[in-house]
Amino acid sequence: MEIINRRQRIFSISRKFRREDKKVGFVPTMGALHAGHLKLVEECRQRSDVTIVSIFVNPTQFNDKADLEKYPRDLTQDAAMLAELGVDYIYAPDVEEVYPPGFSTYVDVEGLTGLMEGASRPGHFRGVATVVTILFNTIRPDIAFFGQKDAQQVAVIERLTRDLGFEMEIAVVPTVREPSGLAMSSRNERLSDEERAKAVVLYNSLREAKRAFDKGQRNAADLAQIVDNAIEEEPAAVLDYVSIVDRETLQPVEKIGDNETLIAAAIRIGDVRLIDNLILNQKQ
Ligand code: PAF
Repeated sequence: MEIINRRQRIFSISRKFRREDKKVGFVPTMGALHAGHLKLVEECRQRSDVTIVSIFVNPTQFNDKADLEKYPRDLTQDAAMLAELGVDYIYAPDVEEVYPPGFSTYVDVEGLTGLMEGASRPGHFRGVATVVTILFNTIRPDIAFFGQKDAQQVAVIERLTRDLGFEMEIAVVPTVREPSGLAMSSRNERLSDEERAKAVVLYNSLREAKRAFDKGQRNAADLAQIVDNAIEEEPAAVLDYVSIVDRETLQPVEKIGDNETLIAAAIRIGDVRLIDNLILNQKQ
């Protein structure tokens, strides 16, 4: 495994493999790797000839400078985990390599970014869309892997891939969960043991709504109310939002039809914000 810092070099390496007709798989990350990331890497290894993982804490997607500064960074530990999984290349550029002095071009995916996570994190998805576009352009993968836990990010990236004409596949990997059901996230590390046990209310509330859907409930407001009520029963948790939206367009749905539909929610436990979602009508 090789760690590469230079954009030009990872570009040339990837181009060489593509010319040899090798399938280049790509997993973008911000490091602080956990089992959820490792699942993306495993999927990538299975479906590609070459696996490239990027580790880059992207400043443009943080709207709070303090959050950016305290984001955990440990390249040595991340690299050891990736080497064990058989990753071929890590692309770990400096900020100036991705955003050279005078950088002034941003990617805004309209219509998908104002709601849900976008409402409480203005500018976040513009930063994600911009860095992902730069990384796709640098690596030009055949296939890139993202986790279903970040459902809104998936919708934004699928849309930008289509709109900007990237000839590649976006693979979405199911959410990896702790034994309790809590979705894996680097933020879980900031929860105390007690908070971590309580945080499972988020997944349980979504499952309760999904059970009602499976029994025939199609009214989105009623399903949202189920989540709301379940979260309310856990005094440590504060509901930020629960949204029932089309999986691709993220437009709110009133009566659930046949389309894939997300039931997504965010809660706060202490000062930690957690998100999770389930897909209704999932097509495989
Ligand atoms: O999901 C993440 O870790 C980040 O948003 C991503 C896709 C690596 C872009 O910085």
